[in-house]
Amino acid sequence: MNNVTIVTGSHRRDSESVKIGRMIAEKLQHHDNCQSAELIDLSDFALPYWKESYSESEQAEIERVRSQLQRSDAFVFVIPEWNGMVPAAMKNLFLLYSTAEFGHKPALIASVSASIGGTYPINEMRATYKNSRICYLPEHLIYRDVGTIFNGKKNDNKDAEAYMSERTDFALNYLMLYSDALKKVRDNAPEYGDFGNGM
Ligand SMILES: Cc1cc2nc3c(=O)[nH]c(=O)nc-3n(C[C@H](O)[C@H](O)[C@H](O)COP(=O)(O)O)c2cc1C
Repeated sequence: MNNVTIVTGSHRRDSESVKIGRMIAEKLQHHDNCQSAELIDLSDFALPYWKESYSESEQAEIERVRSQLQRSDAFVFVIPEWNGMVPAAMKNLFLLYSTAEFGHKPALIASVSASIGGTYPINEMRATYKNSRICYLPEHLIYRDVGTIFNGKKNDNKDAEAYMSERTDFALNYLMLYSDALKKVRDNAPEYGDFGNGM
């Protein structure tokens, strides 16, 4: 059974990314190979941006999130496309945390666009792995026209919603399989020794 953390990367309160993150959390909570699915919403700005020293309360928040990430077996990152980029709060996560939290754990990238965007955050996240050694699934998800789906409203685009719902189930099944498989890698991993960072 797997513990999953879903991180939503929007800086906006009540964002579409959080809407999608909650929908994914609910699916995982009903998955027979998922023990827990917890959400981290980066729009609350509880985590400070990386700097050289922190206040006591900032350090406490960093440690609280660290223990959540460390006890996670797998991740889902729900990321809006902002000016063709990943928002800064999401990149900051990979400054604050690295191999000890993410190393050799699977992550599903899900991007969100109000229109027909959504590919740039996928590419950018796929290139963000060197020191953390996170393992992105070959599958990813793109929720396009996100304002028209998963609102629980009659006038939603029901065809697109049904397609993305099925596709989400499909990707989450893979996430759970990779999560089972990569536990063996972590259990048998050699020490990092002189190779603390990736090349
Ligand atoms: C600063 C900013 C930049 C944005 N840039 C893009 C973009 O490059 N491509 C795109 O498809 N949508 C863009 N959007 C619109 C988002 O797709 C839209 O806000 C969507 O709801 C996902 O973001 P959210 O999770 O914050 O709601 C941008 C939105 C903001 C606030």
